[in-house]
Amino acid sequence: MLNIAVLGYGVVGSGVVELIQQKNPVIKSRLGRGIKVKKILDIRDFPHDPNKDLITKDADEILKDESIKIVVETIGGTGFAYDITKRALKAGKSVVTSNKELVATHGPELLALAAENEVSYLFEASVGGGIPIIRPLYNCLAANDINSITGILNGTTNYILTAMNKQGKAFDDALKEAQSNGYAEADPTADVEGHDACRKIAILSSIAYNQFVDYRDIETEGITRIAPDDFHYANQLGGTIKLIGESRKVDGGIYARVHPAILDANHPLSHVDDVFNAILVEGDAVGDAMFYGKGAGKLPTASAVVADILDIMKKNRSHTANSGWDYHRKAWVLNQPATGSQLYVRMEGVQDKAALKELLAKELGQVRFYENLEKPEQLVFVTQVNEALGISQLTGRLESFGYKPAIVLQIMDKQE
Ligand code: HSE
Repeated sequence: MLNIAVLGYGVVGSGVVELIQQKNPVIKSRLGRGIKVKKILDIRDFPHDPNKDLITKDADEILKDESIKIVVETIGGTGFAYDITKRALKAGKSVVTSNKELVATHGPELLALAAENEVSYLFEASVGGGIPIIRPLYNCLAANDINSITGILNGTTNYILTAMNKQGKAFDDALKEAQSNGYAEADPTADVEGHDACRKIAILSSIAYNQFVDYRDIETEGITRIAPDDFHYANQLGGTIKLIGESRKVDGGIYARVHPAILDANHPLSHVDDVFNAILVEGDAVGDAMFYGKGAGKLPTASAVVADILDIMKKNRSHTANSGWDYHRKAWVLNQPATGSQLYVRMEGVQDKAALKELLAKELGQVRFYENLEKPEQLVFVTQVNEALGISQLTGRLESFGYKPAIVLQIMDKQE
């Protein structure tokens, strides 16, 4: 039996324990030995839990136990989780985590520490929940230069956007449902403001482009400004709204951005609904490859954590060096505005519609207008494809004329 400890007995941590206990016979038949959860660290009491005897509040009981070879960190955040991860790696234990915030913030340091101590630091569950994506990027696609990654990377926001689009649900009701299903972060601001997706695209980009893409350099916009009317117009345009995390190689660096966008129905990501995530990777040899599955939730995430444990069990020595993340090299991240796309703009409180329409036609050329007779002060328009016009240029021009758009969204089709 391989002894492990689980740090943090929340949604994911308890899923890991449950999955290991359930699958031990299969694990044993595949690897020749099973896994024993020897300790669980949590500051809370679980008096009625079947594993209550394994729970400790004392981290040293785990760190000083030489029989524990792997620790699973499902605490989350960058405080105590950071500290205990470093202590575990220094104590010669491999660490497996679902903590994207920690990986995105301190990944380079923790990978270096793991290499120094000849142990592993693995984080398949940090992106895409149960979807295999990190290992495929550095293993199965290792013969490719990755040109771009485009993904729906946050289950909570995808659940909310789907419920708003398909059931006409209010944002708050959809968020509450996502929270009660265990998808949302403890503070859902990280989900709805796009920070969670930002950390995930930073981690994927770091691996794909073999350098450290710092999430703090990535321009990020969440979904809080999207109104039910935007779905109405998006549907009229033949699409829907999704929160996209994207990155691609550009001259001199990496372009990366998180933003809501209208996806045309022919875009492969437009039909990815509910808590599902999908990641579209373009490699120079493979072409397009898409990875799809449940991006959040107890057992899907536990599935990825346990796979990392099994991977360490299969190898006798550290394999962090193979994860394809040159953590010494920091990427130059460019937030160049998206150009070459049609843009959707919703304006509110427009008193002088005729004057604005005339100005837009003069300034932007052909523009398609959409109006709702019940909302006389609302004006929606869609620009033509224009290589020189990105979201920030358009917003800047509208503001210079004294108009502030309520929202501007890029319209993405499958060519984007
Ligand atoms: N809050 C995250 C999400 C959990 O909704 O995708 C999985 O990382």
